[in-house]
Amino acid sequence: MPEAAARDDFLPFHVPAIGDEEIAAVVDVLKSGWLTTGSKVKEFEQEFCRFVGARHGVAVNSATAALHLALAAIGIKEGDEVIVPTMTFAATAEVVLYLKAKPVLVDCSGDTLNIDPAAIERAITPRTKAIIPVHFAGEPCDSEAILSLARAHGLKVIEDAAHALPARDHSQMIGSIGDITCFSFYATKTITTGEGGMATTNNPEWADRMRMLSLHGISHDAWNRYSSEGSWYYEVTHVGYKYNLTDIAASLGIEQLKKCYRFADARRRVADAYTAAFTDVAEIRTPFSDPDKEHAWHLYVIQLELERLTINRSEFIELLRKNKIGSSVHFIPLHFHPYYRQTFGYQPADFPNAADAYQRIVSLPIYPDMTVTDVEDVIGAVRSIVDGHRR
Ligand SMILES: Cc1ncc(COP(=O)(O)O)c(C=O)c1O
Repeated sequence: MPEAAARDDFLPFHVPAIGDEEIAAVVDVLKSGWLTTGSKVKEFEQEFCRFVGARHGVAVNSATAALHLALAAIGIKEGDEVIVPTMTFAATAEVVLYLKAKPVLVDCSGDTLNIDPAAIERAITPRTKAIIPVHFAGEPCDSEAILSLARAHGLKVIEDAAHALPARDHSQMIGSIGDITCFSFYATKTITTGEGGMATTNNPEWADRMRMLSLHGISHDAWNRYSSEGSWYYEVTHVGYKYNLTDIAASLGIEQLKKCYRFADARRRVADAYTAAFTDVAEIRTPFSDPDKEHAWHLYVIQLELERLTINRSEFIELLRKNKIGSSVHFIPLHFHPYYRQTFGYQPADFPNAADAYQRIVSLPIYPDMTVTDVEDVIGAVRSIVDGHRR
């Protein structure tokens, strides 16, 4: 079969969906005289909590910051162990190291690429204090199994929901299930503030602690000290961090949140089109999606059936690029990275499902502003590469 003609322009892997509403909201803040943490951050926290069904939300400047504060709030300290999937981004494990605790990596399930509850159980020791499951690509992980393990062993569950907005596990929104849930508003995420994050919890003490630590460990209304209602006096009670979100970013987040379901519908349409187009392609394994859960479709990760192809994953990505289609890989498992290999002695074969998936995974473009032609171009490019390299 002849190779499909490439597009004229390059289709980026991701483009954020920023409308006139976001631009107007940012301009309003810029004109308001108050740029940093203030009323817009409060409003964003309240709207976000309402959206996910949580009592408390602490807005910060990244999901990494949210994860760090969440672990600090539950009291993780030197000598503790925290269970983390190897199939994740650096942030999920590095926050454990910030607190001088040990990230204990575990494997994923081969189908969902989500953390495997049986692997969690095997990794629990007397030093284990918490689990950080990641809702990989936006597909909710097995919260029921993870929470029941956690409760049985007295562990806390800090969910890394960087990919999972909006997502639902049966009737429960992600953000209302674990002890603390951490979201990302990084530029490529399902809603964005450029850089940003949010920790949600139903525990008021953890929320207060995270808020206090997010701004230098000073009293919780310290952000207010330059306003007419604020006071110049404050006390530093802990060593904190500089993790607060700005009103500029929050104003963007408020507008993005209003569009969250519209964006999700658009991403789901792209995912459905890809899945329909690839179900009859034996060389492509389409992503898992449990019909009883709501997938956020932050990522659409195919797995190549390499045994049926004459090219490897890197060559496949290079051919996509030649067809002017951007793509990516989520993730290089943590135990493949030099730091984790050298520090903890991990070998690729330690986590066979993640190691196997890593050779096969390709993330295809999926975002609200993709046109029908963009989606057809991705499908056409994938199919023509497969057709040209069938074993
Ligand atoms: C699974 C996961 N966790 C955490 C993060 C960190 O998010 P942020 O960039 O907001 O710190 C990312 C970012 O890509 C991620 O993919």
